[in-house]
Parts: sequence; C-alpha cells; structure tokens
Amino acid sequence: MAKVKAFRLGFADFASQNSEQMIEYYTETMGLKLVEQGKDGSAYLSNGLDHHNIIITPSDINGIRCYGYQLDGKLTMEEVQKELAAQGISAIVKKDAKPGISEFVELKDPSGNLLHLYNQMDQAASGFGISGVVPLKLGHIAFCSNNLKETIRFYEEALGFSSTDQIGEDFANFLTCNSDHHVLNIVASTETKLHHIAFQLKDASHQYLSSDVLAKHGHPVIWGPSRHTAGHNIATYHYDPDHQVIELYTDMDVYIPELGIFEPRPWHKELPLKPKVWDGLSSWGTDFVMDLGKI
Ligand SMILES: [Fe+2]
Repeated sequence: MAKVKAFRLGFADFASQNSEQMIEYYTETMGLKLVEQGKDGSAYLSNGLDHHNIIITPSDINGIRCYGYQLDGKLTMEEVQKELAAQGISAIVKKDAKPGISEFVELKDPSGNLLHLYNQMDQAASGFGISGVVPLKLGHIAFCSNNLKETIRFYEEALGFSSTDQIGEDFANFLTCNSDHHVLNIVASTETKLHHIAFQLKDASHQYLSSDVLAKHGHPVIWGPSRHTAGHNIATYHYDPDHQVIELYTDMDVYIPELGIFEPRPWHKELPLKPKVWDGLSSWGTDFVMDLGKI
C-alpha cells in the first residue's frame, strides 16, 4: 500500500472570543472571502480557490483548534486510517462532519495538535479578493512543541514530510511536504502552542504594500521586513485581533528533493545551498524587537 503523503497545508481553524473582529480582520484586512457561515457562527474563509483556508469559530477561548493537510489522494480515508494504525497511530474517519470537506481523517500529532487529513475540499466560487492584503496562499504553520523529537519523526514517517533546515541545534526545525522550504516550523518548547501562521505574498512590492494595508487597519508590523536565514524568505510579522502572530512573506527558498539542495538564488552565500543548521534568524542582521521564541 502507498504511504500516507501530505502535500500541502490546507487550513487553520481558530476558536475566538472575538469572532466578529477576527472575521472582519480576515475579510477587510487580509482580503479573504467569507464563503459560508455555520449555525454555530463558524466562519469559513477562502484565500482564493479552496472552500476554506481559515475557520473562525466563536468560543469562550482564543486559540488554534485544528490544522488541515491535504493528502496526495493515493489512499482512501479508510486506507489512511489503516496505514496510520499500522504505525501505532490511532485516527478516526469522519464523514459529512463539516462544510467543505466531505470526509477526513482526524488524529492528534505527538504534541497534541488536532489534525484533519483530507483528499478533497470543495472549491469556492468567490475567487481572490480585490482589496486588503490578498495573499497568494496560506503557506506554513509554526508551532511550539513539548515533544519535539517524536513530533518531527511523526511528520516525517507518518505524513511524508522532509526536514530541511534548523536554526540552532533543536531550536527551530523546518519541514516540508512540497517544494517550499518549509510548510512546518516546529519550535522546541515546554508547552505546545501556536507560534505563528504565515501567508505567502506575490513579491517584494506586495510585501511593502501589505505593510501599508496593515497599518491602515490598525495591525502594525511588529518585526521586519527582514530576510530570514533559514528559508531566505523576506518576512514581516503582525498580530491578528486575538494577538496571534501572523507572518507575511515572499521569496522563500525552493527545495529540490532530488538534488538535496535549494534552487540557487543571488542572495545565497553558499552554492549549492544544502539543508543546514543556521545561527540567528536574520541574514540582514536586523535585530528582533520581539522575542518570537517566547510567544
Ligand atoms: Fe514563519
């Protein structure tokens, strides 16, 4: 049987005490489209084609509820469940349980994060927004893990991710399931929690225009722009209304797994550039004014 293989990050699902403000932020500031709102008030927001890339559910707490990954479609949901069970991972198949995804496999990673794995999501007819930031896609998740080694092994062995770079020995650990430098960044910590979610922008001009849009809507940049070391993405960070960190980035390194290198770029100091352990976060020497490690 084929192995379970994730190939992209599909969505992030948030609980929110301030769901109306969060929905306004995602529609007015970020430029996503509100596709559907459930009877419980859950809002399904699309970046462009997918039925949803962000879910906001009214709650008495704030925080991430679930991460969604799309699989390569080579296994049915029952086969995914069986393959995971063979690795000692318990998962359940859910059908017609939520809008936009008719069937998915639900499980927890070794850090306790709830995951939904699916082959197909409905498409949204709404398309890309025309005002606000309007990113290209939801690109990656960074989370703090209280169970680092086992969690990295889980994403590599159970879901088909590859490790690329690290920052410091065991501090930030980058993994990908496609050609992006990272789809996941797992940060060593004493507790499991969201570190940040990140949206990809079109180019450098989109990066600075996005800072104008953020400022206009009262979400000033809290760090950046700067070019990262690992991944070389130019990044800015800001807070959403629930004080969760959102990264906007462009120019991320492209991984070539067949060669074990990143596509050469003029700003790379090493050619060929191979996955490695980096010191520090910024290749421009820009100091952090916020401690992302303590979020
Ligand atoms: Fe990031």
